Amino acid sequence: MPVSNSAAEEVTLEKLLKDIESLESIVSNWDEQQRMTVRALRKAIDDLNKEALARVIRGLKKNPEALSSLKELTADEVVYSVLRHHELIKPSLQERIEQALDSVRPMLQGHGGNVELVAVEPPSKAVVRLIGACSGCPASELTLSEGVEKAIKEHCPEITVIEKAKGICATAADMPINFISPFARGQEKQWIFVANFDELPDNELVVREISGESVILVRLDSNIVCYQNACAHLGMALDMGEVKDGVLKCPYHAFEYVLKSGECITVPEVQLHTHAVRVVDNRVEVSFS
Ligand code: FES
Repeated sequence: MPVSNSAAEEVTLEKLLKDIESLESIVSNWDEQQRMTVRALRKAIDDLNKEALARVIRGLKKNPEALSSLKELTADEVVYSVLRHHELIKPSLQERIEQALDSVRPMLQGHGGNVELVAVEPPSKAVVRLIGACSGCPASELTLSEGVEKAIKEHCPEITVIEKAKGICATAADMPINFISPFARGQEKQWIFVANFDELPDNELVVREISGESVILVRLDSNIVCYQNACAHLGMALDMGEVKDGVLKCPYHAFEYVLKSGECITVPEVQLHTHAVRVVDNRVEVSFS
């Protein structure tokens, strides 16, 4: 249902996004030609809005006082989300940390665990909590240092201190910026069709070339995983590797990987580069973000 602009009903980012999502779910059932037309229309409108906003920002930059007002305005979640969507501002520190955590979540979730961001203390500290199976795991310190910390430091070099939290999660109000652009996430998560679910044989590698990158897909019963087609040892292609009992063996120097999680059995410090996968009806889609 479209959002009413009546004074009685407050317009929020959540409501606006719900409108977009409900329309997108209708469009997702249309045929490919129709979806392409909608994408083209959306891009044309986006291009127009981006150009207009870029001109506004360029104009404001000439006036330091106006520029500082604009910076304050980015604390508004709708303003922030739209400017992020058009890549006119950089992602907030919190958003970059969440992106870092998203990059390690498939590996943690493969073990029934997860990680959550508890607090950001600018300029250099983040507090995270390992949850689920990760919290009580004897290897949790290694998970934190080799997985979570490494990912955060790669995405956010300014974060030098990462603490592991205990106890209950901080409230959003405790955080300096307590939202993440859902628009930006939507933009960064470009889902690309790679195969039909029923085309993928169980426990067999299927190789695909997506946007110039070679990836391997494996169906494990009702789940599908997708990895960059590159061994974590010397980057050689894995698609000719042997699959046995849920383990993939590199055909070059026999590094072994757990297919479900991408973890390397031979050298536990490394792992396969994972891509997010979703299945919509019979369509298997991959995101490279
Ligand atoms: S390249 Fe795969 S084990 Fe060496």
